[in-house]
Amino acid sequence: MKHLLSPLDFTVEETEKLLDLAHDIKVSSDKYAHSCDGKKIATLFYEPSTRTRLSFESAMMNMGGSTLGFSEASSSSATKGETVADTIRVVSSYADICAIRHPKEGAPRVAADYSSIPIVNAGDGGHEHPTQTLADIMTIRELRGSLSNFTIGLCGDLKFGRTVHSLIHALIRYENVKFVLISPRELRVPDYVRDDLLIDNNIDFEEVEKLEDVISDLDILYMTRVQKERFFSEDEYIRMKDYYILNKEKLGAAKSNMYVLHPLPRNNEIAADVDNDERAKYFEQVNNAVFIRQAVILTLLDSVNAK
Ligand code: CP
Repeated sequence: MKHLLSPLDFTVEETEKLLDLAHDIKVSSDKYAHSCDGKKIATLFYEPSTRTRLSFESAMMNMGGSTLGFSEASSSSATKGETVADTIRVVSSYADICAIRHPKEGAPRVAADYSSIPIVNAGDGGHEHPTQTLADIMTIRELRGSLSNFTIGLCGDLKFGRTVHSLIHALIRYENVKFVLISPRELRVPDYVRDDLLIDNNIDFEEVEKLEDVISDLDILYMTRVQKERFFSEDEYIRMKDYYILNKEKLGAAKSNMYVLHPLPRNNEIAADVDNDERAKYFEQVNNAVFIRQAVILTLLDSVNAK
């Protein structure tokens, strides 16, 4: 039985297969309308979410299945002190697969250790968010035709932004992907990402502070929100929150085929005047995420049947 806790839980070949499946679901959705008849997904969200929880539920319903779960820890028995380990042992009796979001890094790993159903990490603290990454790379592959030979700028809160960490994990496995890490000094990628992933694997990368200095070099610009919920100091958050604001004027310096992605939700880091630019693809990411989550559900449920 497989879990999805990190993008590395799928090999490059398995990832390609999953992206192909997601594409097929996108273009032939009727074929999959009954693929999960009688199946249930539990969505255990100990942290707020709009896209991830609703798209997992939508994904399961698109395939004939149903959903159960909670959208905040305060409406679960976590408030009475129940551990993630006990919760998942209970939920394993109610559902066939589970997506879990938790503020503590590693909580989905604990869930997987005690679960008898597949677990999907739907975001754990500032650590990883693998299904967001799969939606990101599906979108990049659609836009560019390949996941090799391009320069990606990752801009904003690279310290706490878990989608950035997962995306770097996933993309270093492809040929000739260059990373431009654009952040204030205080929000640079954690040491384990810089040292263990980028330096140890001889990946081409640079760290800069000003978006304007590099925007013309990029093929993809991946903007991120400053993660207010992970800051210890309100003053520090306020100092950082509007560090980067991409607007139509700044986009003028970018290539005509440089695409703008963002995992959403956004605050001020992408101005509304960018939304109608044909290079703005963040709502396409949202759309792709449903197909990706359908593909993840099918793939993980298949791994149970193959036991
Ligand atoms: N991208 C993402 O994880 O969005 P939500 O927090 O709304 O789920």
